[in-house]
Amino acid sequence: MKIGIIGSGNIGGNLGKHFAKAGHEVFFSSRNPEKLSGLVNEIGQRAHRGTVEEAATFGEVILLATPYGMLPEIHERIGNLEGTILIDTTNFYVQRDGAEIKKQMNAQNYRESEWVAHYFKGAAVSKAFNTIPAAQLRDKAFKKEDAQEIVPFGASNRQAKEITLQLISDIGFKPAFIGDLSKTQVMEPDQELYMGFPAEEEVNAYTI
Ligand SMILES: NC(=O)c1ccc[n+]([C@@H]2O[C@H](COP(=O)([O-])OP(=O)(O)OC[C@H]3O[C@@H](n4cnc5c(N)ncnc54)[C@H](OP(=O)(O)O)[C@@H]3O)[C@@H](O)[C@H]2O)c1
Repeated sequence: MKIGIIGSGNIGGNLGKHFAKAGHEVFFSSRNPEKLSGLVNEIGQRAHRGTVEEAATFGEVILLATPYGMLPEIHERIGNLEGTILIDTTNFYVQRDGAEIKKQMNAQNYRESEWVAHYFKGAAVSKAFNTIPAAQLRDKAFKKEDAQEIVPFGASNRQAKEITLQLISDIGFKPAFIGDLSKTQVMEPDQELYMGFPAEEEVNAYTI
């Protein structure tokens, strides 16, 4: 798959490396793309770098891995992402992202991932990887099947579900589908499935 990465830091950088290792083509982006040359050179020919707009055009799949509060600005730059799959890895923190965006999503009774889908109306959105600390995502991928860590995810439709499940599997984790985006509250900060790989029995209570 061709994967455009928006936010190439702890989460986007490490997941992008994994996706390239699994055989996918990745396009890392930054507001200063020149600073990504080390990352891209380390990965080799399956990695590219450029602007946020270029990553959005490149990707059949877009991985969103920026601070949550940057949503309006990013949407302004790349539009609705028509026809793509958008994997949302973000979390909302009021100290970092500001109260206003939370106020807006609460007013419509949206989950954080639904608010992302509200911005990127043309995309089929999934929420994945946001529950796991970046260092664990970096270090625990590509395990053999019987030792794989569980990654919970939600998705807005069948295509987003299938592609996200495939990508989680491709990098050696075990996907656990918890339902559509309205069910993803349990993946939000300080909720039941937040911060670390869940045990099978923990995630079973939420999978469908
Ligand atoms: N770190 C974790 O353990 C962890 C775990 C799970 C989920 N998350 C969530 O994942 C997201 C990313 O976290 P992270 O730790 O990877 O952050 P990070 O290392 O700070 O990387 C975020 C990236 O976002 C880019 N960015 C910031 N503002 C932007 C804008 N307006 N337009 C385009 N790009 C912008 C920055 O790139 P440039 O400055 O180069 O443009 C930066 O490299 C956050 O929502 C976080 O809450 C983090």
